[in-house]
Amino acid sequence: MSRPQTSHFLPLPPLSIRTPAPSYRKPTMVTTYSHQPDRTITHDDSSMTYYRAAPIGSDLNYGYDRRVERDESVDEHLDGLCDALREVRGPGQGERKGGIITWRGMMTKIMTAPYEDREGWEMTAIALDGSVYIELHDPPEVRARRRNQQAPYAKQSYMGYSFESFSTVSVHQEQEEDWPEGWGGDVNTNVQVSCSVVRSAIGDIPLCLGGEVDCVKAEPGLPHPGLDKCVELKTNKVIENEKQEFTFHKKLLKHWAQSWLLGIPEIQVGFRDDSGILRSQRGFETEKIPRFIASVPSPRPPWTPQPCLHFLYAVLQLVLTHALPTDPLIRHPSGSVHPEDPLPAATVWRFSFIPRRGCEMYKV
Ligand code: A3P
Ligand code: MG
Ligand code: MG
Repeated sequence: MSRPQTSHFLPLPPLSIRTPAPSYRKPTMVTTYSHQPDRTITHDDSSMTYYRAAPIGSDLNYGYDRRVERDESVDEHLDGLCDALREVRGPGQGERKGGIITWRGMMTKIMTAPYEDREGWEMTAIALDGSVYIELHDPPEVRARRRNQQAPYAKQSYMGYSFESFSTVSVHQEQEEDWPEGWGGDVNTNVQVSCSVVRSAIGDIPLCLGGEVDCVKAEPGLPHPGLDKCVELKTNKVIENEKQEFTFHKKLLKHWAQSWLLGIPEIQVGFRDDSGILRSQRGFETEKIPRFIASVPSPRPPWTPQPCLHFLYAVLQLVLTHALPTDPLIRHPSGSVHPEDPLPAATVWRFSFIPRRGCEMYKV
């Protein structure tokens, strides 16, 4: 890649930073949609699943040979999110102008970057109609390399999906007689059960985020009960010593960030042994996780939210400052003075994270 001529660099904040970070507004739901088994989208909750605790002793290897996996070589960009926003656009609906529209996963990557020592990433930012859209810059060769790296962990990754099946009831799948107790249906990673689009803000920056919710807490068959009843599911190896406990506490940063950003109040973690048998599970209230981590007796807590929120705000501000044009013709093309003019070509910006250093932003 040729080096950019003009770039802007944002260093990571010190991990010891304790000054109050810009506050993160409690997200509100804009709309939900579903990915069906063939990956098509329907603008409803037809794939929604209902939480029901997985039976302890469940074998998370169950159904491995029948799994259907999404074709990861297809880059869907922001299509699902943009489709959903098109469906709901109307007065007071959709996104607030002047902000960021992206997947929750992008926000999680930016937010947890201060504690990420190994994996860098690149994202693309492009302004359109008064908002900046952010997506992962994920060229086919990077994607292929990642798939190869992940191949040896296919079974472990499957166990995460299998735990989702054992922990949920789907009202749209016929229960089959030979299923083990608690099995909610065979794993098909095309299906995304309840994609949620939410509005929030960090400080003065409006956000419109899309992300998958694993399940909801309600009587099976009832309509979507709202964000306050959503549950995120996670798996972890059984914790047997202090080192494993410390590793789990570090992992809780990503779980917390992922759920906090979308407004998911509860995380259920299933603990499995090496052979994939579910041994125990534990629920966490998302908003209490930072206090829980702060209370863990150790020389110092493995993480605190402050550097994460400071960095998230600083990166988004950098992106908005450079990517969002100030020219009203470009910001609001539909209401421009010369509506017959062709739209000006939007400038594509890229920003990349360099572990332990910070974020660099440049024009492509
Ligand atoms: P676990 O997180 O329990 O391991 P999510 O938790 O985000 O709902 O994702 C469901 C499962 O998809 C994960 O379960 C994991 O098995 C798999 N998964 C998600 N992100 C992944 C990634 N980046 N690499 C490998 N597997 C992933
Ligand atoms: Mg999920
Ligand atoms: Mg999950």
